[in-house]
Amino acid sequence: MTIDLAPLQAQALAELGAAADDEALEAVARIYLGRKGAITELMGRIPSLTPEERPGFGQTVNATKRAIETALEARREALADAAIAVARGGAGFDPSLPGAPLRRGSLHPITQVRREVEEIFRSMGFEVVDGPELELSYYNFEALNIPADHPARDHQDTFYCDDEGRLVLRTHTSNMQIRAMEKRQPPIRIIAPGRVFRNEAQDAKHEHTFHQVEGLVIDRGIHVGHLTGTLKGMLRAIFQTEIEIRLRPGFFPFVEPGFEVDIRLPGAAALGGVLGDWMEFCGCGLVHPAVLRAGGIDPQAYSGFAFGMGLDRLVLLRYSIDDIRHFMGGDLRFLRQFG
Ligand code: PHE
Repeated sequence: MTIDLAPLQAQALAELGAAADDEALEAVARIYLGRKGAITELMGRIPSLTPEERPGFGQTVNATKRAIETALEARREALADAAIAVARGGAGFDPSLPGAPLRRGSLHPITQVRREVEEIFRSMGFEVVDGPELELSYYNFEALNIPADHPARDHQDTFYCDDEGRLVLRTHTSNMQIRAMEKRQPPIRIIAPGRVFRNEAQDAKHEHTFHQVEGLVIDRGIHVGHLTGTLKGMLRAIFQTEIEIRLRPGFFPFVEPGFEVDIRLPGAAALGGVLGDWMEFCGCGLVHPAVLRAGGIDPQAYSGFAFGMGLDRLVLLRYSIDDIRHFMGGDLRFLRQFG
């Protein structure tokens, strides 16, 4: 028995092609491929055929079945694509269109200047070290010659982070002096840049969070000349010109003698400077013998200098920025100027 299934196949393909949605499509599929569908019914006839008829009949039915399945699958995909196109507002996907532009981020101005400062000190033979912002009171105060009842604590009120007053947000990078000494033997030459915190009223020149760069040098015979020479070298490299500095006596319990360093900047007054053309730049001095001892270094054999400079201040001066609060403000209009 020969059979011609071409008309059946043609009709099935036409109906599949005309199915407008998934539901209509699956209904057509059932008519041909379902349990009671035409193909299934044809398959069911095979046992009643003679052995000679079976192979030819079976092959014809199978070929028709595959053709219908292939058409069904193609139609399913076409309907799915159409649904996506509708979801996109009817427009087809055009892979040749350029992507949506991604705005590139950039380094914060403080990070940029910090990296410059690190490079300058590296070129002078310093090692750059990093340390904790959440610090033991011991490293931030006691080991630096500032006992709990010392009035200097009033100038550096901070955020105490436990009930015992043992954990503090560091008020300066000077905590790294002791940490550096504990891990090294002289000669020591390090800088420690980082974030510091103070609990104080905020204005254009004061923030609860700011940045310092600590410097510490310990060797035999270190004196104030080494300190001023180092600071001047750094300033020359940053400002690309000779910068005049002056030392005023300054009190910090962890240095003796101690100084405040001002730098001369024509126009500093316009930036809110209260010292005329002079701008306060950093605290420094020769490391106090008690601090050397706390760091495990013999003050009879060694001496050293330390400084702590405000990085934010340097960036303000560099770019003539009038308010330190811009730095932590997160305003992209400000930050994008440094991209
Ligand atoms: N830690 C001091 C401050 O934050 C600065 C300083 C550092 C002074 C090192 C002397 C020596 O004000």
